[in-house]
Amino acid sequence: MRELLRDALKLVVPEKDEVEAGEKAEKELRKRLKDVGVEFTFVGSYARKTWLKGNLEIDVFILIPTNVGREELEKLGIEVGKKVLDRYEVRYAEHPYVHGEVLGVKVDLVPCYKVESAEKILSAVDRTPFHHEWLKDKVAGKENDVRLLKKFLKANGIYGAEFKVKGFSGYLCELLIIFYGSFENLIKNASRWTRRTVIDVSKGEVRSGENFFVVDPVDPKRNVAANLSLENLAKFVHLCREFIKNPKIDFFIEKDFEVSEEKILEAMRIRNSSIFALEFERPEIFEDNLYSQLERAAKKIYEHLEREGFKPIRYHYFAEDKCYLVFECEVRELSKVYRKVGPPFEEYEHVDKFLKKDRIFKPFIDGGRWWSFEIRKFTKPQEFVEDFVTKNFSALGKNVGEFIAMKGFRIIEGPELLKIKKELAKMIGVVG
Ligand code: UTP
Ligand code: MN
Ligand code: MN
Ligand code: MN
Repeated sequence: MRELLRDALKLVVPEKDEVEAGEKAEKELRKRLKDVGVEFTFVGSYARKTWLKGNLEIDVFILIPTNVGREELEKLGIEVGKKVLDRYEVRYAEHPYVHGEVLGVKVDLVPCYKVESAEKILSAVDRTPFHHEWLKDKVAGKENDVRLLKKFLKANGIYGAEFKVKGFSGYLCELLIIFYGSFENLIKNASRWTRRTVIDVSKGEVRSGENFFVVDPVDPKRNVAANLSLENLAKFVHLCREFIKNPKIDFFIEKDFEVSEEKILEAMRIRNSSIFALEFERPEIFEDNLYSQLERAAKKIYEHLEREGFKPIRYHYFAEDKCYLVFECEVRELSKVYRKVGPPFEEYEHVDKFLKKDRIFKPFIDGGRWWSFEIRKFTKPQEFVEDFVTKNFSALGKNVGEFIAMKGFRIIEGPELLKIKKELAKMIGVVG
């Protein structure tokens, strides 16, 4: 394993020119910030030398007194960004920040409140300077272990705490390396984590709790792994076990798989299921917000497919140029007729009322109660979903719902699904 990790270092440690570009940009940025006269601090992976080769990006936070209003703070951040960056655009996380460039190096410039302690923060970003203070000495000497971990996660699609990924944040990576001392030791221990593992970094202890929890040394109430999904925790533990069994450089290399149209069509033929997707225009909202709405919409539709007897087996959602909610059901078509439960024969009044209803077919008795034959409106899951979405768009998330109501949606199925073949391949387990 040692030898392999030495090889892997070549993939994660930045080359000299990348480091120098960072240093030049940092120097220039410091000068410009001083000229503007604001208080600032360098945080994030650049400040701690834990950024991943090829991913140089400087994070600088502007510290603003707490007597300044929220709107004013946002305006100040943008103003400073305009003055000190060569190129800039306003981006939105939980509040606006500025992304841009200095001497060709990417910069995130985030305004935050300057508070006394991490317990007195006014918003989550105010915690970041405290994270940096806590980490900076402890991570020294372990930078490349952090980089190995980030790359291991990135190569397997679980680096990043954003909703789209639901994986490990940079901060979480650094805490884990500090706690376990090295990449190798982390992998060994993580291969025995459970969904109840609690890692208390500042107490230096591991215990069992209600759910996977990494205690923030700067704010013990906060779970640093709050955005890590149970699925991705499981995936990571599995990866660690596989890696120990068979350490290979592949674990550090992103796999950009190609999947042929024939393979997908063949898979659809073998499965003989009902696969279809809802396609609609992408609302221009912050990606975390969009993905959480897409998940909600997909889950809701999935539940209703279940309730209607279409036996859904998997759902998937993603946003590219357009948004897609994808479903697979075991049932391609149900019969027109179904049986509906009625009252027990002893409940005379209910029985009389039950039998009064106009029906094509006569009700029957089974197991001591009445049943009726009812006629389904929709026999195919796609038809059902089309109707459901038309009538319940408001339950599908605020912006997603409004967009569907305003701009409509389309159901795609059959060979047209090939246009989302990569995502489809992931969903139905087709390997490239
Ligand atoms: P980054 O996402 O840049 O992470 O956020 P990182 O630790 O530097 O890791 P990489 O190598 O770039 O991926 C830097 C810090 O700023 C905070 C994050 O929580 C993190 O601690 N941050 C960033 C915010 O709080 N809000 C933002 O909008 C952006
Ligand atoms: Mn960063
Ligand atoms: Mn950043
Ligand atoms: Mn980042």
